[in-house]
Amino acid sequence: MRIEPVPALEGHVAVPGDKSISHRAVLVGALCEGDVRVSGFGRSADTEATMKAVRSLGVEVDEHDVDTLTVRGAGLRGLSEPSGPIDCRNAGTLMRLVTGILAGQRGSFELVGDQSLSARPMERVAEPLRRMGALVETTDGHAPLVVAGAQLRAIDYELPVPSAQVKSAVLLAGLFASGETTVVEPMPTRDHTERMLERAGATVTRRPTSVSIEAPERLTLGDLEICGDFSSAAPFLVAAAIVPGSALTVHGVGLNPRRTGLLDVLERMGARVAIYNRRPIGGEPAGDVEVRTSELVGATVTAAEVPSLIDELPLLALAACHARGETVVRGAGELRLKESNRIESVVEELRRIGGHIRATRDGFRVRGVPTRVRGGIVESRGDHRLAMLGAVAGVSSQEGVELRGAEAVAVSFPGFFDVLEQIAR
Ligand code: S3P
Repeated sequence: MRIEPVPALEGHVAVPGDKSISHRAVLVGALCEGDVRVSGFGRSADTEATMKAVRSLGVEVDEHDVDTLTVRGAGLRGLSEPSGPIDCRNAGTLMRLVTGILAGQRGSFELVGDQSLSARPMERVAEPLRRMGALVETTDGHAPLVVAGAQLRAIDYELPVPSAQVKSAVLLAGLFASGETTVVEPMPTRDHTERMLERAGATVTRRPTSVSIEAPERLTLGDLEICGDFSSAAPFLVAAAIVPGSALTVHGVGLNPRRTGLLDVLERMGARVAIYNRRPIGGEPAGDVEVRTSELVGATVTAAEVPSLIDELPLLALAACHARGETVVRGAGELRLKESNRIESVVEELRRIGGHIRATRDGFRVRGVPTRVRGGIVESRGDHRLAMLGAVAGVSSQEGVELRGAEAVAVSFPGFFDVLEQIAR
């Protein structure tokens, strides 16, 4: 696909529902008593895999339209053994979270994924779940995974890596464990699971660096509205920050502070960001975000803030290419374990189009030049965030970008190119 440079980006848009929260709505909904009516669902290849997974576990999901569904909860221990493996496709969140849930069910479950997911580390969830008494087998630390439900006991677990997926798998298993399950996190990661379980009636105790859960009698969610996905808004916000003369507002987007590190870093770089109509949506902070172009300068991103912008670091690298001076990202080794090795893929792809960026052990360094990047070929490598990075690079470039593997956007945001077209002036 050819992405031409645009003179500016302008307008008001909305983005699909948050992917992290959409996965959780379907998974937690499946464990609830009664119906959970979900609006603002972020439909994508990843979240469709989650719907299919819970259906194979015996849960009915009625799809009313593209973003409204009813999950007919089967109760905490109501999931049944499927006839074959559960295919998590490209979705790491699905595979890791459902493993925590299945550890407390009756039966044995096999989980498989696509090539990219099968290369990602799974011992990180298997290990704490085994400590709780679950039977989890990985294939040399990876998928395929076999989980057999067992009587679980609570543990105190300190996360060895800052991962919301691992934290969530342990908390979800904690729904079935005798005693109080505690997860200690050295750095704050997204807390959508905690928020949703609390909303569903579980006793969740939150402290500055840890969270505990007790096994509830039952969960009930009723109606749940999902806010727009900050990670899907991010490509447009970054494009507006770097394409001269742009002014763009994304409405109804999630602004959970554990997700919006990109805005903090962009503001440090001199971006013009304004937030209007702050309001809660489905138990999450949300609002309308406006970005106008300004001159950017380089910034340093520390390990402590990395989890709050982990999925946006590829876009930050592009913004840094356009900013005057040096940008340094440290403590982001987890990027190597995403849908692609995002240190290597981001550095190599941005270099191909004229960016001055180099990889470090746990991040990257960018020498920014305040002009448009040259342009050229960008390959997504099957990674949705790389595909969106290539598109934003294209609109903000001098010569345009030939984006290979553009269809990967469907993993999280099938309508991405329609929105991009809508705001290109
Ligand atoms: C997610 C957590 C993060 C993030 C991923 C979604 C979640 O992964 O990168 O896109 O929904 O919990 P890790 O927990 O592996 O850091």
